[in-house]
Amino acid sequence: MVTENSIKQSQLIQNYYHFQSTIYDATRWSFLFGRKLILDKIATETSPKTILEIGCGTGYNLKKLSKRFPDSKILGMDVSKDMLQIAEKKLGSNPNIQLIERPYVRESEVNENKPDVILFSYMLTMVNPDFSDMILQAYDDLKPGGYIAVVDFYNSKHSWFRKHMKNHHVRMESHLNSILEKKFEVVDSEVHNAYQGVWQYFSFIGKK
Ligand SMILES: C[S@@+](CC[C@H](N)C(=O)[O-])C[C@H]1O[C@@H](n2cnc3c(N)ncnc32)[C@H](O)[C@@H]1O
Repeated sequence: MVTENSIKQSQLIQNYYHFQSTIYDATRWSFLFGRKLILDKIATETSPKTILEIGCGTGYNLKKLSKRFPDSKILGMDVSKDMLQIAEKKLGSNPNIQLIERPYVRESEVNENKPDVILFSYMLTMVNPDFSDMILQAYDDLKPGGYIAVVDFYNSKHSWFRKHMKNHHVRMESHLNSILEKKFEVVDSEVHNAYQGVWQYFSFIGKK
């Protein structure tokens, strides 16, 4: 459902990525860890016909997914036009990949073509305070027996680091796992250290 808060949140994210999109690919490789790992885990569990990445950004995962699953339909949804413009250039014309510019809300047209996998890569920690609703929506949008795949920040013992991330709209309080574990059958769930424990990130595969 489109709420006042979700409109505000979308605007905030669009504004943030207007500049950040220009430095995204040059900088994020050095701290968005586990993105290859989550794709490995998806490939171990399933051979999806349709994969939807919510918050696909500049298309880093979409490009890798299209190589791993060349016969699959790959959808990337994002609220930021600036991020999607970079994805478009990166991906070229591939008939199997479709980019959708919109926020992920209840009214999205996902129902017509339910995906086998929904991927959230460093996205859910930016959805505040509506992260639970988004996880429940992904559950509803998946095919029966489909998988949710998540890689994201987990926590940090350093309050300065959590504060720094909050300035970048990221909530880092290990708040996502309990709702994921409650809603999905846990297939794989791990917490990993980054930079010798300055922070942790997590990977999660759950089955509907
Ligand atoms: C940190 S980036 C991650 C991009 C990509 N998944 C990756 O791993 O590189 C977060 C992305 O989520 C998008 N995003 C945030 N909230 C969103 C929402 N409610 N609906 C759709 N996209 C959203 C942002 O525009 C941004 O491109």
